[in-house]
Amino acid sequence: MPANFHTIDHPLIKHKLVYIRDKGTSSKIFRELVREISAILAYEATKNLPTKSVKITTPLTKTTGHKIDMEKIVIVPVLRAGLGMTEGVLSLLPGAKVGHIGMERDHDTFLPTDYYFKIPSRPKDKSFLVLDPMLATGGTVIDTIHRLKDSGALDIRFLCLIASPEGVKALNEAHPDVIIFTGVVDEKLNSKKYIVPGLGDAGDRLFGTE
Ligand code: URA
Repeated sequence: MPANFHTIDHPLIKHKLVYIRDKGTSSKIFRELVREISAILAYEATKNLPTKSVKITTPLTKTTGHKIDMEKIVIVPVLRAGLGMTEGVLSLLPGAKVGHIGMERDHDTFLPTDYYFKIPSRPKDKSFLVLDPMLATGGTVIDTIHRLKDSGALDIRFLCLIASPEGVKALNEAHPDVIIFTGVVDEKLNSKKYIVPGLGDAGDRLFGTE
């Protein structure tokens, strides 16, 4: 696995993945689990964010603390399944901005285009956390990150719940500078490009559209 790739090997993630994979889990519980796992991923993915010292007065004395510049963090859920991760990440980073990106392939040219793109101004000064629960072939995330870089973004991390070995390789080859955080790497992709064992279609399970 590449150097800038991290599997978050934590009992809480392992435990929650049992329920999230289970086909009998309702959309309500599925959404809660996606939110909870995303918060744990965000905790790990923000470990090396810069902080600046600030003076504080406690009821007892003056001291110094360390603050993250929340205004400089942009959470970017990839439409549509990435939306399910947003609340979990925001629970740890309530002051972060939220951008949205929807990518699709042009039917004629097969070139990736964005059907929705809205991110805050001055992207080069910001740290981006791109969210998509499933890193399958990597195609959509690779296109999304190209689009972000075209707009000026420099510091980009990618967070997913489940990755395929093929997706990790493809994303790392396309964007070796992007740090990847996942809950687990599964066995493989099947012929329909679903992750196996996986959890099925994350968007359908989040939004009840099966
Ligand atoms: N997207 C999903 O939602 N699930 C997969 O297994 C692959 C891509």
